Amino acid sequence: MGRSTSLIPEHVAVIMDGNGRWAEQKGRPRWMGHVAGARVVKDVVAHCARAGVEQLSLYAFSSDNWSRPPEEVAALLELFENQFREQADTLVAQGIRLSVIGRRTRLPLTLRRVIADVEARSGAGRAMHLRVALDYSSRAAIQGALPVHHAVAGLTKGTTILPPVDLLVRTGGERRLSDFLLWECAYAELLFLDVLWPDVTSTVLDGAFEEFAQRERRYGRVAARVSA
Ligand code: FPP
Repeated sequence: MGRSTSLIPEHVAVIMDGNGRWAEQKGRPRWMGHVAGARVVKDVVAHCARAGVEQLSLYAFSSDNWSRPPEEVAALLELFENQFREQADTLVAQGIRLSVIGRRTRLPLTLRRVIADVEARSGAGRAMHLRVALDYSSRAAIQGALPVHHAVAGLTKGTTILPPVDLLVRTGGERRLSDFLLWECAYAELLFLDVLWPDVTSTVLDGAFEEFAQRERRYGRVAARVSA
């Protein structure tokens, strides 16, 4: 995997923030924001694959999200299961390989079964590699990759160090990484958008790709000179 100089980022990572606020602004319960967010996920996946993105990594549920109210956690886990089940055929048809990264052991058994099924069915897809992070912590992933931790491998099964991220987008106005792909974002271009995740459209995404194309990626070198 070489360093990308292309106009479309090879590996895009997204922190999908703002579902709760989107719902609250409309006087609806938070879970409705997640349902709206899931609809946007479908469009974003299709749009990225069409645009030529090779890898798309989505932060759907962090290890810290377990401390949300139990009914919100339950609603999210149910939503993931339904989405994977419903989207499996479409992903296979689009040639999109789906993998789930993060710790699996705390996920409900039914969700784990659906994940295993869609990973197996979509495994040959070459159009784009979609990774969904569930019960994910980057610090745990890095720790799990250290030799001393191999003795307790299994805890972080499904979690590996991924190819480098070219563009990280966070929606929802906050400007932090929240323990997502810390290692992989070493040279990522960071883009923080104020738009709430359920309001993301293909125009917003194209704007993000345009911004990426304009950034000069120097990887610690000096700026390229325009020859006289
Ligand atoms: C952050 O918004 C969003 C989440 C914790 C959940 C992300 C899940 C989805 C977009 C739905 C489905 C995803 C897949 C992959 C099928 P927040 O609740 O923190 O929003 P807030 O900051 O406004 O409270």
